[in-house]
Amino acid sequence: MSAQFPQGPASGSYFDEASSAEVVNARMGENINPRLREVMTVLVKHLHAAVKEIEPTHEEWLAAIKFLTETGQMCSDWRQEFILLSDVLGVSMLVDAINHRRPSGATPNTILGPFYLSNAPRYENGANICLDGKGEPLLVAGRVLNTDGQPLPNASIEVWQTNDDGFYDVQQKGIQPDFNLRGVFTTDREGKYWFRSVKPRHYPIPADGPVGKLLGSLGRHPNRAAHLHFIVTATGYDPIITHIFAPDCQYLGEDTVFGVKSELIADFKKVDDAQKAQSVGLAAPFWSVDWDFSLAHCKSLQNAE
Ligand code: BEZ
Ligand code: FE
Repeated sequence: MSAQFPQGPASGSYFDEASSAEVVNARMGENINPRLREVMTVLVKHLHAAVKEIEPTHEEWLAAIKFLTETGQMCSDWRQEFILLSDVLGVSMLVDAINHRRPSGATPNTILGPFYLSNAPRYENGANICLDGKGEPLLVAGRVLNTDGQPLPNASIEVWQTNDDGFYDVQQKGIQPDFNLRGVFTTDREGKYWFRSVKPRHYPIPADGPVGKLLGSLGRHPNRAAHLHFIVTATGYDPIITHIFAPDCQYLGEDTVFGVKSELIADFKKVDDAQKAQSVGLAAPFWSVDWDFSLAHCKSLQNAE
């Protein structure tokens, strides 16, 4: 009489090196979320392929697990080390690019970054968002347009940036005034906006955790090219999350999170004219950037056309 043990999988579906990914993927149940099946099938396939190509030692694999463990342990309500990892590996910008394929002429998207605050103060056009008085004065002015070049009145423009020491207000609570270098503006009847600020500087991303250590081991610096962040919205149009970059920044070609796109490099002009400076409420010399944002119609509206 044969032994009363359950039969194992059919011959050929036990684990072996050659078909490891297929064996693992075949274990998924029938009634699972189809998107989860698709995602996990691809992930397992590529993960196994990477392990086969790398052929890690046990020590190397444990080091990888230790790195991921430390990355998780670094996360808190204030710090998302996994997003930072995704940022420095270029994955955040890739996911962003895949999800924001826009018609030509529309302002490109970029990542949001960890220092956005949703409750920034609303200002009248012309306000100065620099509350700590540090840095070289900057005037930012332009229009919000649609991709046909028509101005969009009543559009919202939200801006945030670091101070002249390279820190966001939220990184220096009690040192910088709350909401330093943040504000929300609204375009006028001609789609125009303008505000005063300071010229942005390059700054390091938080590098005191495992991601910073990884960058060091890879011979990479942690610096972001000098930029201002923006969120621009208008009813009926795809919102944009974007940056503009200073053209003279030494890190323009090697932004640590790969945020720079050529279309987002602005022309920062130095204006050494006391009368002009006085007319815009800044000291001379000051920097001036003219920057228009171009919004595409919402996808749903485009499809309906
Ligand atoms: C930022 O630009 O604020 C930023 C983006 C990604 C990681 C860290 C900082
Ligand atoms: Fe930033």
